[in-house]
Amino acid sequence: MKFFIDTANLDEIREAAELGILDGVTTNPSLMAKEGISGKANIEKHYKTICEIVPGDVSAEVISTDFKGMVEEGKYLSGLAENIIVKVPMIKDGVKALSHFTEIGIETNCTLVFSSAQAILAAKAGATYVSPFLGRIDDTNWDGMELIKQMAEIYAVQGYETEILAASIRSPMHIVQAAQNGADVVTCPLKAILGMLYHPLTDIGLAKFLADYKKVNG
Ligand code: G3P
Repeated sequence: MKFFIDTANLDEIREAAELGILDGVTTNPSLMAKEGISGKANIEKHYKTICEIVPGDVSAEVISTDFKGMVEEGKYLSGLAENIIVKVPMIKDGVKALSHFTEIGIETNCTLVFSSAQAILAAKAGATYVSPFLGRIDDTNWDGMELIKQMAEIYAVQGYETEILAASIRSPMHIVQAAQNGADVVTCPLKAILGMLYHPLTDIGLAKFLADYKKVNG
């Protein structure tokens, strides 16, 4: 399973990259706004910097919601760096745009996916990645993990090549369960990635090893 970080914060991206386990980055307009990145020139510079830090896939989302606008924007974004993946929302014109990008060889990530029906459309349109939003489904008292499971089953039965990118991850347990249920990729906040490190018995065990060493070595 690939590991992406879900942020536009350069320090967090660098910190995750230093672990040596990072395969890519996902951003969205909210994450870019959170970092105060605005204006075409700044947005362009920011994406280029992210792509320099991480050689893997970096999702950059279109703002347009009409076919023509999404195609223009997607071509522009994909021209910024070789590893840019154009992120397109799951709407009617978005599906048209995904199909067009597939035809012209631009890689895509279909975002804002909340059902297997949407996931089938994304796969049929040839999306490179499809992003089901686990945490936001859980927030509505439905089980986001059930969607991952059903999508993985459908994609395996149908032989779809689109990769399932579990998004809106909130915790290490989401990451573990996404892996168990067939996600190809997880995109996580840094906090969830670092949270995977933690186990109290590791801390207790390490403290004992160091104390025992000190007893005989001073
Ligand atoms: O990649 C989509 C993701 O950023 C959404 O996460 O936490 O805003 O639901 P969240």
